[in-house]
Amino acid sequence: MNGTVDQTNILVSGIIEGLGSAIYDRCNIVICPAFVHLPQVFSKLKNSKCQLGAQDASAHIKGAYTGQISAEMLADIGCKYVIIAHSERRQYCFEDNALIAKKLTASISAGLTPIFCVGETQADYESGKTQSVIHAQLHEVIAQIGIEALGKCIIAYEPVWAIGTGKTATPEVAQQVHSMIRQSIAALDKPIAERVAILYGGSVNAGNAASLFTMPDIDGGLIGGASLKVEEFIQICRAAAH
Ligand code: PGA
Repeated sequence: MNGTVDQTNILVSGIIEGLGSAIYDRCNIVICPAFVHLPQVFSKLKNSKCQLGAQDASAHIKGAYTGQISAEMLADIGCKYVIIAHSERRQYCFEDNALIAKKLTASISAGLTPIFCVGETQADYESGKTQSVIHAQLHEVIAQIGIEALGKCIIAYEPVWAIGTGKTATPEVAQQVHSMIRQSIAALDKPIAERVAILYGGSVNAGNAASLFTMPDIDGGLIGGASLKVEEFIQICRAAAH
């Protein structure tokens, strides 16, 4: 929930111009602005291979759900991606695994690629529950949507204690969790586990991006605060493309 129309235009123009076009041969870049800025960002991305995504979508297909925005509406205005189950949605909007499963299904039906977030809280982390929490977040959802549908998602591992705090998981700690996620998917479907992209999110910045992205099971990043700074975000994208 950042930025005005003008600030968003300046930010996105700076990012697109600074990135150039060759970078898209080596990585995918998606910008997920606030809902109200989606149309203006879409028009800025028209001549670029950078894609548009939203930060949430309704679990419902259409109808009397005042204030909600459907996945079909997002697809209709040019979104290709949607973030689902960000920890701030889980925490502030009380989204549980059952609702998240419905949102993923609705998003996939509308042709969007969901970026499905999982992650443990600080208390979970300190009490050694990371693995069991992530396992439950993943598998309670897979039980509802099926493994084939999970294969249409991108997964983002975002430890809640690392989001917006400046505390990043070390590349080794993040790698361990990413590898655990991939193995637990492989137990259900090996080809899907091998091809699913698993992003890391939580205080990624220009200084730590390269060391995170060199880990074998870290396929990219979900960037919050650092995406609000043109130069910083460009450097993170370059680290991903390296
Ligand atoms: P951060 O946010 O990069 O500012 O920690 C990540 C996120 O909100 O997904």
